[in-house]
Amino acid sequence: MDFTPALWVILLVMFIDGRSSAIKWLSIADAGKNLSWNKTSSCRKVSGFVPEQTQLCRRTLEVMPAVEYAAEAARKTCQEQFGNRRWNCSSIKKAPHFMNDLEKGTKEAAYVHALSSAAVVHTVARACAAGYLKACTCARNPGEKPDGNYTWGGCGDNVKFGLEFGSRFADAPMRKKKRSHTQTLMNLHNSEAGRLAVQNTMTTKCKCHGVSGSCNVKTCWKSLADLTEISHELAEKYSYAIKVVKRKIGTRQQLVPEDRRSRRHGSGDLIFVENSPNYCMVNNRKGSYGTTGRLCNKTSVGPDSCQTMCCGRGYNDFTVTVTERCNCKYHWCCYVTCDQCTRTEKKYMCK
Ligand SMILES: *[C@@H]1O[C@H](CO)[C@@H](O)[C@H](O)[C@H]1NC(C)=O
Ligand SMILES: *[C@@H]1O[C@H](CO)[C@@H](O)[C@H](O)[C@H]1NC(C)=O
Ligand SMILES: *[C@@H]1O[C@H](CO)[C@@H](O)[C@H](O)[C@H]1NC(C)=O
Ligand SMILES: *[C@@H]1O[C@H](CO)[C@@H](O)[C@H](O)[C@H]1NC(C)=O
Ligand SMILES: *[C@@H]1O[C@H](CO)[C@@H](O)[C@H](O)[C@H]1NC(C)=O
Repeated sequence: MDFTPALWVILLVMFIDGRSSAIKWLSIADAGKNLSWNKTSSCRKVSGFVPEQTQLCRRTLEVMPAVEYAAEAARKTCQEQFGNRRWNCSSIKKAPHFMNDLEKGTKEAAYVHALSSAAVVHTVARACAAGYLKACTCARNPGEKPDGNYTWGGCGDNVKFGLEFGSRFADAPMRKKKRSHTQTLMNLHNSEAGRLAVQNTMTTKCKCHGVSGSCNVKTCWKSLADLTEISHELAEKYSYAIKVVKRKIGTRQQLVPEDRRSRRHGSGDLIFVENSPNYCMVNNRKGSYGTTGRLCNKTSVGPDSCQTMCCGRGYNDFTVTVTERCNCKYHWCCYVTCDQCTRTEKKYMCK
């Protein structure tokens, strides 16, 4: 091939501007299964880590099981959240070698970056409270005055430590890059939006003490919502994600809404820079697997309806035989007997 100067420029731009997800560290979900987090040599065996993450890993080895757990949780939660849509988050498993659905600055990438960053904060904050880590303990009592008849106490999730570690770890891939790079700015923003979502779902939990549950004395602490709830909040943000472009404002490069009439994004909003395909057909360049072969729901009117899932191409039906336990009886004491029942179920599969 003849590499003309113009082609070199194109290749260089693709290299700098093209593939730059900051969530390759999610590969720890797989790699971690073969590693034990009691020696620093494990750190360089996670191929998705950037050098700063490998360093952080060496220095805070004891936190790595929490990071591994966070990566697994992000994976599972994302697939639950999007399982019945055309883009079903199955590609998150490919870490560190993503396709362009997650490698480029799409809405889907925005969501996964936010969720992954949230998952680290969440897991580490909980690990502190559970006493798994030497570096941290339960949260200190909130500064605010209790607004009722209770005192602060118990053991709160250590969100402060979670946020500190989480931003150092999850933002490490963006830190070395030029701050003016569009996708770096986007990733930083969405990563922070994920951390905000964690903080926003904090609630106060209480426990009663006193004679026979009279609740004379109440102690309360701040507790995080489950990751499923956080993921749900972020999926809401995903549906209202704002497309942005880079503009020079004063001396700084900033991301602003592409549509000048659109509202300016807040720190909790998700932003993206590249339109997604509709994920109907296979398109390797766009990171779309297509929906051929996906199951759909004939009675649903949601994203899993056959009309939407199959993109109007139609579907085939087939029957499957399901065997399950039924007519279960409890016998005193202590066992259960069940029959095996079989029934047929109709399934629909996109053409
Ligand atoms: C873990 O180790 C086994 C056996 O050495 C290997 O087959 C497998 O591919 C490894 N898995 C990962 C995720 O590295
Ligand atoms: C690390 O843990 C593994 C199993 O969890 C154990 O076999 C190994 O001896 C430990 N290594 C060190 C250096 O403690
Ligand atoms: C606090 O407790 C006292 C006595 O039990 C009661 O009179 C008061 O109404 C309570 N205040 C609130 C805000 O619940
Ligand atoms: C998710 O989508 C991919 C690509 O269409 C498909 O291969 C996979 O089976 C789907 N996963 C689930 C759980 O539906
Ligand atoms: C299909 O969708 C309907 C309506 O939303 C729902 O009640 C039903 O459980 C779904 N069926 C399957 C197999 O998911």
